[in-house]
Amino acid sequence: MAPRKLAAGNWKMNGDLAALAEIDAMLEAAAASECEVLLCPPAPLIQAMKARIGEGSIAVGGQDCHASVSGAHTGDVSAMLLRDVGADYVILGHSERRADHGESDADVAAKAVATHEAGLTAIICVGETEAQRDSDETLNVIAAQLAGSLPTGATAANTVIAYEPVWAIGTGRTPTTGQIAEVHALMRDKLRGVIADADDVRLLYGGSVKPGNATEIFAIANVDGALVGGASLKATDFGPIMAAL
Ligand code: G3P
Repeated sequence: MAPRKLAAGNWKMNGDLAALAEIDAMLEAAAASECEVLLCPPAPLIQAMKARIGEGSIAVGGQDCHASVSGAHTGDVSAMLLRDVGADYVILGHSERRADHGESDADVAAKAVATHEAGLTAIICVGETEAQRDSDETLNVIAAQLAGSLPTGATAANTVIAYEPVWAIGTGRTPTTGQIAEVHALMRDKLRGVIADADDVRLLYGGSVKPGNATEIFAIANVDGALVGGASLKATDFGPIMAAL
């Protein structure tokens, strides 16, 4: 049986303890939806969010981890610790981390290995810049990022891929359905060369997903869910996105 579709929320550096009041409405929406639901808050909120969710059907994840299990890495968090405080997923290689922290594909692959060793599922992000799309480099860029960021040992159970065009993040702009379909078909094809159960790997689209465009985006072939930023902060937005999956 194919894995359930995934509605993943990336809170980025937003939210605080008071914002966890939103969880009750999120749980209601998640219970009414058929998809798997995940929220990735800032790391200090993971434990409190998990406690608030209790036995409810929302998973919790981190937004990054270090490639090591422990050691002299001030400010970093290990995948093992994320797991210890209740995480089941880790977002890796988000374009904001690639840009703000100079993360390379090799860094992302090393973090994915640590994520798998901790028993967590890695959500590996790829995406082209606007300049790369304008110069027709999108498919080459995505293929290269995927090849470089995917660790050995990746399976449909421990790895999710998110296609997030950099120019679509937080801008209200999205690619055409044809452009999303083209990239997702390429990713599926590339995965088939390296992962035995590639057809079951969930491929998320991310970048300005809103209640108003979710149905159209989720109808695209090889789109198995979404990685949602701004619209994952409130149940009034994220609930309809869950319902559309
Ligand atoms: O990781 C999700 C993100 O980058 C998309 O953000 O606000 O455009 O949905 P947003």
